[in-house]
Amino acid sequence: MLRKTTIIAGFAVVLGGAAALGHGDTAPQSVNTAGLPDLPEEMAGENPWREADPDLLFKAIEVGAKGYNSNCARCHGLEAISGGLAPDLRYLEANDFGDEWYLDRVLHGYEQNGAVKMPPFEGILTQEAVWAIRTYIETRPDEVEMADQKAALTDLRDKLDAVKDDPTAAAALAADLEAAGQGFEALSGAPRAVTPFDLAAWQLSTEPPHIKAALETLTAAVRN
Ligand code: HEC
Repeated sequence: MLRKTTIIAGFAVVLGGAAALGHGDTAPQSVNTAGLPDLPEEMAGENPWREADPDLLFKAIEVGAKGYNSNCARCHGLEAISGGLAPDLRYLEANDFGDEWYLDRVLHGYEQNGAVKMPPFEGILTQEAVWAIRTYIETRPDEVEMADQKAALTDLRDKLDAVKDDPTAAAALAADLEAAGQGFEALSGAPRAVTPFDLAAWQLSTEPPHIKAALETLTAAVRN
């Protein structure tokens, strides 16, 4: 019994170590894109959602954040902030040139001297997932500017937590959150940056408000 437990524990350590080191041996995962409109079968050459209305833009970011976290973050960093293992994707220009480069890498990956440095995602990620991840990456705000917002994020998170069982009061916080999210720029040059303030405001403005999702958005932002 003791021996069995030791073996299982050892195995878990090995698995955890591989993920932490960011080697290319964790299988790429498909992404659930429910809630996003279907794109035409042929792959677009440019992000189709760059100039989308807020509802679609935010949905793409919500889906893209999950897709990024499960497939890209271990190499390119949490919140797309690179720790040096792979390029910082936030600086990839939000234009057709940046999109072409993005698409080529994501679909085909990258090999150097026969070693897979980045796995190919062709056939694993649908077109909707590919562009949702792109939309998430290119709308990241500057983390230095966001670091100054920790007190404001904590304050709004606590206010929301206090009214989490009251949908009307929770929805009323959307305006404060939206105001707090003004004035941030994306490092990619995208039309706008989307901060956790903006995402939480959008999550609260649905009918009924997605209070749990908004709380998760703000809690994760405070923790970072
Ligand atoms: C196993 C690690 C790993 C994973 C997982 C990974 N990448 Fe990469 N990626 C790299 C490395 C290393 C490079 C640098 C390759 C090079 O020198 O061009 C790179 C390069 C890129 C580039 C080109 C960036 C530039 O500035 O030239 C893009 C775009 C990119 N990755 C997107 C993604 C996306 C999106 C995902 C998730 C769907 C992802 N990568 C998953 C390791 C990874």
